[in-house]
Amino acid sequence: MDGKFIVFEGVEGCGKTTQLQRSRQWLLNSGWLPNLQSKRFVKQLMATREPGGTDLGVGVRQLLLNPAREPIHDRAELLLYAADRAQHVEGFLRPHLAEGSIILCDRYTDSTIAYQGYGRGLDFALIDQLNQVATNGLQSDLTLWLDLDVERGLARTQKRGASDRIEQANLDFHQRVQHGFAQLAEQNPDRIVRIDASRSELEVAEHIEAALSQHLARWYGAIQG
Ligand code: TMP
Repeated sequence: MDGKFIVFEGVEGCGKTTQLQRSRQWLLNSGWLPNLQSKRFVKQLMATREPGGTDLGVGVRQLLLNPAREPIHDRAELLLYAADRAQHVEGFLRPHLAEGSIILCDRYTDSTIAYQGYGRGLDFALIDQLNQVATNGLQSDLTLWLDLDVERGLARTQKRGASDRIEQANLDFHQRVQHGFAQLAEQNPDRIVRIDASRSELEVAEHIEAALSQHLARWYGAIQG
């Protein structure tokens, strides 16, 4: 059994949560998952997110995203994301990957580089060090970056209702985050695939399915049923 770790990334309102669920359904319905399971390449398909993929993480997510009663300092914010991740990696990601699961994860280390590094301006070497401590070296096998104009994304989140603490940050902050994702995609062309998220939900889903098919075939051989 050979687990794989697939991450969805992007700015606020880019559609990654919706697309992650669509990909999950597509993997179940398209024949890929049943086939990989019948050949005993894969045990199961799981979906998770950061922050908030564990019981501890649910509490940390509330601390991070509820509009705060006192300002959260940038280094405290960074450490809370790292604590959430360390728990998620040891308590969820590694055990399920070891038993051969495919895991779809909403955000991971690139979000920390984009938000706390490019967005907040914290030192990149410090972030790398903390990401290393939190992940103990666990990297994604594939990261899908849903590239969407920041203003369009924020307009979508505003339609959904009250903004969380990070969504409330100013436009400049979100522009820097978007620039961060673009830089990361440029620096990691083997791991990060750019998806044009300005297209319709169906078109974005089809683009993601094509990227997933290509990677699954590369990882497991061309065995789709
Ligand atoms: P979301 O998963 O609903 O998009 O909310 C998570 C928020 O947390 C989002 O604003 C991005 C932010 N975030 C960081 O700032 N750093 C991180 O390391 C992660 C995982 C998320």
